[in-house]
Amino acid sequence: MPLPELFRGRLTLPVIASPMFLVSFPPLVAAICRAGIVGAFPSINARPAAQLDEWLGQMNAMRADTPEMAPYGVNLILHKSNPRLVEDLDLIVKHQAPFVITSVGNPADVVKRVQAYGGMVFHDVIGIPHARKAAAVGVDGLILIAAGAGGHAGTLSPFALVYEVRQFFAGTIVLGGAISTGAHIKAAQVMGADMAYMGTRFIATQESQASEAYKNMLIEATAGDLVYTPYFSGIPANYMRQSIIASGLEPNQVLGTREGASLMGGGGVEGHKAWKDIWSAGQGVGAIKDIPTVADLVARLKAEYDAVNI
Ligand SMILES: Cc1cc2nc3c(=O)[nH]c(=O)nc-3n(C[C@H](O)[C@H](O)[C@H](O)COP(=O)(O)O)c2cc1C
Repeated sequence: MPLPELFRGRLTLPVIASPMFLVSFPPLVAAICRAGIVGAFPSINARPAAQLDEWLGQMNAMRADTPEMAPYGVNLILHKSNPRLVEDLDLIVKHQAPFVITSVGNPADVVKRVQAYGGMVFHDVIGIPHARKAAAVGVDGLILIAAGAGGHAGTLSPFALVYEVRQFFAGTIVLGGAISTGAHIKAAQVMGADMAYMGTRFIATQESQASEAYKNMLIEATAGDLVYTPYFSGIPANYMRQSIIASGLEPNQVLGTREGASLMGGGGVEGHKAWKDIWSAGQGVGAIKDIPTVADLVARLKAEYDAVNI
């Protein structure tokens, strides 16, 4: 399907830079939107909620100044353990954020409230049953997170996911998981997706909030270094083996579930370290060799994308 009206004519590349906990803050999101791809941040990166009120005001002021730039998005984690959900959704509605990405839960209420003011909702899934449920409540787009993605990744092949979802969903399909180069973006489209979703590649940029040590580890790591485990947050996610060891843990001993592991709180020392000290990444790390500015990275992705000759 064609890109939604909100994105048309405003994008350098058909890409959404995904929202990342403790990484995606307004300076990164603003640089991404200015470079012509959709930038997004998790609402819970703004602490306390009053800061979200401020950030949304700033993002809207930026859009009003530069209407041709790519729109920004806000990510709402719908999981019942998110104590901020009601408050953050109220703020999104108050500021009429143009684009909302929902993850881990049922997006029905968000769809109703955001579409009522003309906003758009894309829901993030790792499997077909959740994609069907989200399609049934009227989401505008589905973000399919395939095997090898950073954060809470799925286990399905991107080929299988995109093909099956395309059979029943006529909205925008965004594919995520280990997408690091311009050729990968083109490949996602060839496979049947409308847009690509890129997280890990944007952690290693000048504007990202990640520490220098985290960025350097992304340069060192290769696909085989990712440990896929529910141990830290209760839901399987990919973490760099090197950061698990640096935190004094043994990768082989964090493969199973852990009592008290929870998405929003962590529960116990190991849980609190996840994301902050135990660093998540996708299997696309092998293609990360530097820490460019967002503008330089997007220019490079665009050149690689245009160079694909098919
Ligand atoms: C450090 C990190 C933090 C993340 N935090 C979130 C989050 O808060 N909300 C969310 O919906 N997805 C989150 N994700 C997942 C991304 O939105 C996206 O699905 C993933 O980065 C895509 O795969 P890639 O990293 O291989 O490009 C996170 C991913 C990483 C690597």
